[in-house]
Amino acid sequence: MSLIKTFLTQQVPAIALACAAFGMAAPAGAQTEVKIGYALAVNSHYGAGAKAWADSVEQATGGKVKFKHFPNSALGGEREMVESVQLGTLEAVIVSSGTLSNFVPEVGVADIPFLFRDLAHARKVLDGPIGQDLLAKFRSRNLIALAWGEQGFRHLTNSKRAVNGPADMKGLKIRTMENPVHLTAFRTLGAAPTPMAWPEVIGALQQGTIDGQENPMSVIVSAKLAEVQKHLTLTGHVYSPAALLVSTKLWNSLDDAGKKALTDGARTGVVAMRAYVDDVERRGVEAVRAAGMQVIELRDRSAFQKALEPAYKQYYSRYDKALIDSIANTR
Ligand code: PAF
Repeated sequence: MSLIKTFLTQQVPAIALACAAFGMAAPAGAQTEVKIGYALAVNSHYGAGAKAWADSVEQATGGKVKFKHFPNSALGGEREMVESVQLGTLEAVIVSSGTLSNFVPEVGVADIPFLFRDLAHARKVLDGPIGQDLLAKFRSRNLIALAWGEQGFRHLTNSKRAVNGPADMKGLKIRTMENPVHLTAFRTLGAAPTPMAWPEVIGALQQGTIDGQENPMSVIVSAKLAEVQKHLTLTGHVYSPAALLVSTKLWNSLDDAGKKALTDGARTGVVAMRAYVDDVERRGVEAVRAAGMQVIELRDRSAFQKALEPAYKQYYSRYDKALIDSIANTR
């Protein structure tokens, strides 16, 4: 190997690594690899967002910053992936808000049931000052949150019985995310909520240790839940945002142009995620019906809303009521 080649292959990555470790911008010409983890498949909304993010950054940096994808929880559950980003051993993650309130408790406000009227309302709040303030709070937890992506509105699936209203929820063992807002909601509805990390869920549904779970159409379709669940009730009980996070270590290793490429790319990723969600909201129900699921459309959700009223007392004591009201009143 020539001396120049030896320098390029051995010394340049070492210099980049050293710069990253000491929080310095990598020298021009150095390569940066961004390992990105997510819980779902490449052909999911997370995969679509990650790919668009990666493509945009690679293009803007002329290939100096390259993403390496770890889909399907290959790097662990969402909590573990966020912890790795905090430690700087993983550079990027796309993750649901359900997990994030364990790191930035204020984010839990977005998980309050029936707070958002529709996708347009949620996007307006998250792209506006409220959403941006929430993103800024991640810095004190050693995380850089670049943008809010989304999953869509969460619905209930189970294999025990058709759920037409809150009375049918009684005693159902429903897997929830490890999230206090969701746990309160499902307890209030009379179900037996079982918090569980996502990588364990499909196995638990197959073995019958839980009866059901709840997730948006984007997950129900891309994770092929029709193969393990019989009934789908379109409860739309909670809007599910997702955040695009990077490590402080990666952030500090980039110069201003690199930071801009990463931030612009995250926004491009959000556009792709939202397009996926719009599409799956339109065609997902027919797809799962064709795969054998029995779907209850539940046009009137007011019975669920009423049954959840007692939970609001807890939400008001946990979160700022003025913030909840200002989210609800955003038009
Ligand atoms: O239910 C969850 O844990 C999340 O919605 C999932 C499927 C991991 C995507 O973030």
